[in-house]
Amino acid sequence: MIDPAAAAEALAPGFTTAVPDATSVARLADAGLRYALVDTSDPAAWADWLRADDRGFLQPTRDEKDFEISRAGIGYRRTIGVYDDSLTVDAAVPVATVDSWPAELTIPGSTIETPRTLTSWAISSVTVAPTHRRRGVARNLLEGELRTAHALGFPMAMLTVSESTIYGRFGFSPAALATDWTIDTRRARWIGPEASGRVEFIGIDLYRQELAELHDRVRLASPGEIDVWPHRWDQLVGATEPDASRTKQLRVVRHTDTFGATRGLALYRVTGGEPDFSQHVVEVERFDAETPDAASALWRYLLELDLVTEVKAHLRPIDETLRWQIADFRSAEVKTWEHQYLRVLDVAAAFSARSYAAPGSIVFSVSDGLGYAAGTWLLSVVEPVETETESLRATVTKLDAAPTGIPTLTLTANELASLYLGGVAATTLVDAGCIAERTPGDAAIADGILRAARAPWLSVWY
Ligand SMILES: CC(C)(COP(=O)(O)OP(=O)(O)OC[C@H]1O[C@@H](n2cnc3c(N)ncnc32)[C@H](O)[C@@H]1OP(=O)(O)O)[C@@H](O)C(=O)NCCC(=O)NCCS
Repeated sequence: MIDPAAAAEALAPGFTTAVPDATSVARLADAGLRYALVDTSDPAAWADWLRADDRGFLQPTRDEKDFEISRAGIGYRRTIGVYDDSLTVDAAVPVATVDSWPAELTIPGSTIETPRTLTSWAISSVTVAPTHRRRGVARNLLEGELRTAHALGFPMAMLTVSESTIYGRFGFSPAALATDWTIDTRRARWIGPEASGRVEFIGIDLYRQELAELHDRVRLASPGEIDVWPHRWDQLVGATEPDASRTKQLRVVRHTDTFGATRGLALYRVTGGEPDFSQHVVEVERFDAETPDAASALWRYLLELDLVTEVKAHLRPIDETLRWQIADFRSAEVKTWEHQYLRVLDVAAAFSARSYAAPGSIVFSVSDGLGYAAGTWLLSVVEPVETETESLRATVTKLDAAPTGIPTLTLTANELASLYLGGVAATTLVDAGCIAERTPGDAAIADGILRAARAPWLSVWY
């Protein structure tokens, strides 16, 4: 099994103990607050930090056993607390929290066979106690994270959000969308292909093991996905709360190909049934498929379950194939979310890491309130000379001024982040008034270069 602490340390040696950001330390000290690294090897300090995190996310308080499980699971992260030492009660419980770790972001050009990832700074657990809100604490947390990531040489920061209105001001913007599905199975007749292989029930322990292996492959086929830490899977299968009613309802089906290899896994729960036991709802908690056959087999299984009238699935890709495999388009209600947020910290490193759909050049004229991505950047993608199978890479050069004769987009760091994974079209952002093209048609040329082969997607929260 992957050791997340060792994996993170290998990606960014010393990241957990790098000094707390001096600017945030000073600014919060001026506000009477202490910004500090939490010693996660200290169970009491960890428990206090997690109490604050749970309180911030409106979660129930955990017990001592849960504190230790989570410390073992995510205590390897760089963990920051902001403390108000003037409190007379529970001053050891921070009034604000954040944590971060290096994670592998799948980028355009990646496939299972030829992975391409960008080691990025993942940020989570951003909370500020209701008693200390709207005093600039979150600003110091976020700006502190960006300064730290930049100082450590990370080209990208990333997060998922519980409130979409907060992070734009720090240069984050959605780069991968996700969809939630509610399917009326009485209308959604399967018209997709007959899948080969077989679908069978497996137990939750085997699922937990096979899921980690399967996801570590399938994540490489979708720009926007990240490597998932073992504790997240433990939470999904209920290993951290074995007695919860949700855990007891979980069922797993597996698709194996004609050679017996696992190609797909679906984790689901069945609820409801009222009033006559014929109207159950299937909640798909997770659905992973490595091949079109696996996706077809598992979706068909779910849609054709007896005594079920509705299937719900969360965090699916926007180009979900199921849309084209049901007889009635309108049997499915699909809600679109913004999900994977990115923040470019190093334009040259980030844009020279991914691959491109076509040769050509673009100039990005970027403004950035925090400075990291600001400047005029020439991105040149040339046809590889060595071999036809080599992917198209870019050289990225900072210029003093925009040259003439090259398609030029004027944008902020936010739109630059949205364009990065190749799933948000520059033409859309021009039409939306978010970015400007110097000459009509520049954005269309940029799209031809930037477009990703698959719609970017992220299948987890973090
Ligand atoms: C969201 C939260 C972190 C904000 O903390 P805070 O310390 O009050 O934020 P700050 O005072 O530093 O505000 C920073 C900026 O964000 C804005 N802001 C703060 N909370 C916001 C909210 N809920 N929605 C929109 N904007 C918000 C502020 O207006 C301020 O903007 P400005 O600097 O451009 O004027 C805090 O309210 C919280 O913990 N909420 C519950 C948990 C949560 O939602 N966490 C986010 C996880 S993704």
